[in-house]
Amino acid sequence: MTVAVEEIKSLLRFYQALGFGDLPITVSPAGKAAPAEDMQQGDAEVIMGVLPADQTGDKDDQLRGLRDYIGDCQRCKLSKQRKCIVFGSGNAGARLMFIGEAPGKEEDLQGLPFVGDAGMLLTRLIEKMGLKRDDVYIANIIKCRPPVNRDPEEEEVAACRGFIEKQIAIIRPTVIMTLGRIALQSLMNSPDLKITAARGHFLDYKGIPVMPTFHPAYLLRNPRDKMLTWSDAQKVLARLGLSAGVKK
Ligand code: URA
Ligand code: URA
Repeated sequence: MTVAVEEIKSLLRFYQALGFGDLPITVSPAGKAAPAEDMQQGDAEVIMGVLPADQTGDKDDQLRGLRDYIGDCQRCKLSKQRKCIVFGSGNAGARLMFIGEAPGKEEDLQGLPFVGDAGMLLTRLIEKMGLKRDDVYIANIIKCRPPVNRDPEEEEVAACRGFIEKQIAIIRPTVIMTLGRIALQSLMNSPDLKITAARGHFLDYKGIPVMPTFHPAYLLRNPRDKMLTWSDAQKVLARLGLSAGVKK
């Protein structure tokens, strides 16, 4: 019993530290469900969501707080081989957020997202949209590099997804663009979504429009599909009320 309570407490503290103020659970009317005898008053408050979440500070502060909370993460086995945790970079006040899959070799070395070959193509897309990398925010579903760039495993996504969710909640971008199949399926929690069918159409993530498009690494191998990503980007620009970027 005590072990289970400790596990629940630790999970709730985790969600609280991520800034969740409420939990989607129904609490029985007072008196019906007696609290477990070894629970303290504070635990009941956490469970009922009455303790304030730590939402002080501006968006930069909140992102820093989240980064501090992640710490020298050992929550999944990717921690064993990574060099750097790649948290994300860009403008905390961004209206447009790009979400990729996981760091590759170069990102793992530099601790920054999308700084390798695929990153250069993403930078060119951003610039073609008439924006700079500093205008947008770029992050990945997974913060540590999977060995030999294999697909992240379900438990690795599960260990990390709270962090991208919290980054989105802090930044509250106007539009999200997901890059590639894994980012799309992981963010939307829908393993059956197909990138070729889903791209080009807005989806909804907690009220934020999400435009799925191809991964830049895929586009490097299939340059003819760059046209399709550009048409997805134009829909994003229209949503942002921006003109269609710089024509090249
Ligand atoms: N691919 C990704 O999905 N993310 C990066 O940061 C780099 C390459
Ligand atoms: N398959 C992927 O995983 N990503 C793409 O962007 C395209 C095909």
